[in-house]
Amino acid sequence: MTVIDEFVASHPRSKQLHERALSHFAARGATHVGRMWHPFGIYITHGQGSRIWDVDGHEYIDYRNGHGALILGHGHPAIVKAIQEQTTRGTLYSASHELEIEWAELIKGMVPTAERVEFFACGQEANLMGIRVARAFTARTRILKFEENFHGWANELLDPGALGAVNTEVTAIPMHDLAALEEELATQQYAIVLTEGGGARLAGQIPWDPDFIRAVGPLAKRHGTIWLLDEVVTGFRDGPAGWGGVMGLRPDLTTFGKSVAGGMPAGVLTGRADVMAMLTPRPPPEGWIPHSGTWNAMPIVCAAGIAACKLLKDGLIQKRIDEMGAYMRKTGNKALQERGYNWRLYGRSIIHTYFGPADFEVDEAGNPPTRDAERMLAGDAEKHKLGTYLLHHGIHTHQGRMFILSMAHTREDIDRTVDALISAIGAAMADGAIGQSPL
Ligand SMILES: Cc1ncc(COP(=O)(O)O)c(C=O)c1O
Repeated sequence: MTVIDEFVASHPRSKQLHERALSHFAARGATHVGRMWHPFGIYITHGQGSRIWDVDGHEYIDYRNGHGALILGHGHPAIVKAIQEQTTRGTLYSASHELEIEWAELIKGMVPTAERVEFFACGQEANLMGIRVARAFTARTRILKFEENFHGWANELLDPGALGAVNTEVTAIPMHDLAALEEELATQQYAIVLTEGGGARLAGQIPWDPDFIRAVGPLAKRHGTIWLLDEVVTGFRDGPAGWGGVMGLRPDLTTFGKSVAGGMPAGVLTGRADVMAMLTPRPPPEGWIPHSGTWNAMPIVCAAGIAACKLLKDGLIQKRIDEMGAYMRKTGNKALQERGYNWRLYGRSIIHTYFGPADFEVDEAGNPPTRDAERMLAGDAEKHKLGTYLLHHGIHTHQGRMFILSMAHTREDIDRTVDALISAIGAAMADGAIGQSPL
């Protein structure tokens, strides 16, 4: 009997719900591409702190944390209180209210480049408006992005060739290809260049080389292109001014989401006042961009956002989470090395799994010594399989690829997780689900 057989046998209620979901949701019964699991995902009843529980009564240490939004963990009392109190006063006014101003002021106090602030229902909407204002400001249409960088699923945010996407205006170039960046920008056709905070895929499965990311702004400026830094994941996770703040970057536009609203649905576009002024009504023939959206600055979201930003603004929570990440890298890599496994852990407060020839050390800051996309992305299929083995060991990851930490995780959680990781890799290898190395 393999671990997968045991997993199926011990999750009868999740299996039943998965089978029911198959006739509703076309993506193998899942409501989000990242919630698809082999052979099926777990169905959750509740979460608290660093834990979630499923319908079969199993407890998990949760390293998905609301797709990275729950930096404060599940059910943080300040967020629960803010939402509960605001709910009794009204959820949606379709009129202005003081909370939106308070939240914007908190964000501006944290982000030095935030001259103006706009609220949206989610991160990708903020990115789309960033593109729109940049197009209006530059009177250009083309969009430059980097391969593997994720900004949402809308047409303008995807690499060319994505099924069903109409995005002939988009060019995607390889990360770290300075010549390609210079060549494309020099055409002076691009309204905007998009970069993901930290690196490609959830804060840096492929981390940015600091020299490269620092070159993007000046190059974009020289050629009249607006630079947008997408901090939907890294925003306030990497520090009170986001990853850009840590790196000393000054993008024209920056977007936030996830943690910025304490786990409630929101997106925020911030940046230069002159670019954002494309949203200011002007008489014809100039024109302007009307910003609608039923859920913009929803009072319960603002209340949660205010509570979250107040907690995150001094950076102490992020520091604690980063320390926990460093502890996980250190203990995890030591255990992996001792077993001779070709797996490594790297990253900051989102710990990524590497699977391939492990002929290197991860440095103190969590950087792997390679930014070779092929190596960093190798073994995604095996990582996904490992994800199910980890579930069986009580660990809920981003499909075996990432452990997203929150302030609720403790050293005891990490110790249990490292033990589970070692057992899960051993079991997956014994079952023949994964080999020694994908490369
Ligand atoms: C870097 C990045 N940008 C944008 C988005 C889209 O955000 P949302 O799902 O809130 O629209 C995501 C979602 O995971 C993301 O990781």
